[in-house]
Amino acid sequence: MANLVSYYKEGNVAVIAVDNPPVNALSPGVPEGIMEGLRWALMHDDVEAVVLAGRGRTFIAGADIREFEKIHAGHHGGLDPILRLLADLEDSDKPVVAAIHGTAFGGGLEVAMACHYRVAVPTAQVGQPEVKLGIIPGGQGTQRLPRLAGLGKALEMCSLGEPVRAAEAKAAGIIDELIEGELLPGAIAFARHATARTPPRASQKIAAPDPDAVAAAHEAASKRLRGQTAPHAAIEAVEAASRLPFREGCQVETRLFDQCLASDQSKALIHVFFGERTVSKVPGIGKDVETLPIRRVAIVGAGTMGGGIAMVYANAGIPVLLKEANEAALDRGMATITRNYANSVKRGRFTEEFAGQRLKLITPHVNYGGFEDADIIVEAVFEDMELKKRTFAELDKVTRPDAILASNTSTLDIDEIAAATSRPHMVIGHHFFSPANVMRLLEIVRGKATGAQVIATSMELARRLKKVGVLVGNCRGFVGNRMFAPYCRESVFLVEEGNAPEHVDGALYAFGMAMGPLAVQDLAGLDVGCRIRKEFKHLEQPGLRYAELDSLLCAAGHYGQKTGRGFYIYDAARKPSPNPEVLALAGEYAAKAGLARHPATSEEIVERCVYALINEGARVLEEGFALRSVDIDIIYINGYGFPAWRGGPMKYADLAGLANVYARVRQFHDRFGEHWKPAPLLEHLARHNSTFTAYDKSRAAAA
Ligand code: NAI
Repeated sequence: MANLVSYYKEGNVAVIAVDNPPVNALSPGVPEGIMEGLRWALMHDDVEAVVLAGRGRTFIAGADIREFEKIHAGHHGGLDPILRLLADLEDSDKPVVAAIHGTAFGGGLEVAMACHYRVAVPTAQVGQPEVKLGIIPGGQGTQRLPRLAGLGKALEMCSLGEPVRAAEAKAAGIIDELIEGELLPGAIAFARHATARTPPRASQKIAAPDPDAVAAAHEAASKRLRGQTAPHAAIEAVEAASRLPFREGCQVETRLFDQCLASDQSKALIHVFFGERTVSKVPGIGKDVETLPIRRVAIVGAGTMGGGIAMVYANAGIPVLLKEANEAALDRGMATITRNYANSVKRGRFTEEFAGQRLKLITPHVNYGGFEDADIIVEAVFEDMELKKRTFAELDKVTRPDAILASNTSTLDIDEIAAATSRPHMVIGHHFFSPANVMRLLEIVRGKATGAQVIATSMELARRLKKVGVLVGNCRGFVGNRMFAPYCRESVFLVEEGNAPEHVDGALYAFGMAMGPLAVQDLAGLDVGCRIRKEFKHLEQPGLRYAELDSLLCAAGHYGQKTGRGFYIYDAARKPSPNPEVLALAGEYAAKAGLARHPATSEEIVERCVYALINEGARVLEEGFALRSVDIDIIYINGYGFPAWRGGPMKYADLAGLANVYARVRQFHDRFGEHWKPAPLLEHLARHNSTFTAYDKSRAAAA
């Protein structure tokens, strides 16, 4: 093993430096190395104090998350070496000073808190973000932090998991001194004086219990991290610190930590953590594929999406040429962008100066002047194949041959669009989600001719634009919308069968979805769905059931939020209330169509909608339109409001047990008809007692 930890003397101060790139995580060997360094320092009489620091870009950024994954996979592991390190640090007769730069998160902050003092550069950040992985601090963080920073601050940090900047940490008592100049000499100087101080042992000061602060923390966590259990466990552990001696508090923390680590929520969140890294890897496209430089973008269409995409690029500092069909549409588009920036300033997201600079990066245009300078063109005109083909044929003429031509289409065939150009290898789908400047997902749609360089550039560009780029294949609706169709269909079926929209949406909201599917359809516009349905009517199969209620609402002029009426009635502030007409209309339709009434429980609503998503996901995966099941999970979490703590639809299915999901899908198939035909892959994996995760692994191994 490479030297993970080194130590040396600077006069009468020993320096222990962790060197475990990229983030100095507490991987196996690191705690042991620090302990060895500490023993060495204690043995040398000329050493009077110790500095613990991190080499490279950060102090210890946290535990090694792979270790948690190993425990999930049933391997033996644990925090034992870290706990021994914490005890050794605290028991050291010579004062130990943690010198913090970069981030001291999770286990990193816990190690720092077991030291006698902490100094930091002003740019450093500290935090206990464990709840983001469905766990709580397990290295005494819930016991030491309230003793250093007070109960309120510790409750907030441990339950919400947000980072705290050095100055705030100093004010809170977590950091003893800010070092303005170079960190290490500053820390060594501090350590020399530390010998003259009486070390305030973190474990000895006890915070007073405060039931109000605890209740407020539970409330804030329920709101900010709805549905998650770890934040409440973190609060319970911190609360224990306020009434129990240190050792007993630590036992409470360990019990809660173990419970959280064994929970499905932590399995789900750790899966998502690694998933976000996995999706950036495209088999067959390695680091050897050179990416194209993206210095300028041109966007066609300044409507809802084009305007949002212009902001995404401008926010990343990339100059934008924004073209519209005419002056009036251009003015409307620019006015919306200007208003959005003004709102961001009002909400404190951007400073006025930043927003002004970004706005200046967007140049409005009504013709293709300047397009020859663009490295990439994003098309966001109306969803109409003839218009798209015409636009791409024009772009082919006015842009450089090495410019990437990307379409933001959400349903149309990328290959057909590419065929309108003389360079199909330069054509790709860049499917942003609305509002483009807010939603993190970017589906990158590979056509059959799309070149490797264009794919590699798109993946890298996604990162630059602060999006999660996921590569998908070119099928109708790509991955996200293709799966969304059966999910929405099921929600409408449920209403047709006599269930109130608020009951259907309420069940899925309680499941953790950001919004219920019927409210989403109202937001997107029922007319949009109806138009798409008409366009693809010829593909409908006789004998299959299709949702009709949304078409009936459309026919009555109710398009959702934009007309004030859809599955709900909306007031001027777009606040929804129940629309009594919907159930009446559903009743009439059901009677005419001979549909049975079927009052469903919340559990059944969730199963029908979410299993419809999973069944289609299994097809998408088997047909190769998604590279891995985890790609689908990342798409759903970042583009469709699926709760991360459930891991995404495919991981959720794994955790529920594919045999159980499959059995239910078969029951629905028998009861509701052919649209519930089980996906062959789901059936196969269920019969072999396997999982989508295992399927991903076997495919990766075969590749
Ligand atoms: P929109 O109707 O708001 O905007 C389209 C804009 O394109 C209009 O302002 C129109 O004037 C302009 N336009 C039409 N022909 C043009 C031309 N030849 N040159 C320049 N501008 C032209 O539509 P929206 O919602 O922005 O959709 C655009 C594309 O994005 C469509 O392909 C749509 O499927 C896709 N999309 C839409 C999403 C949404 O939630 N609205 C989400 C993801 C993709």
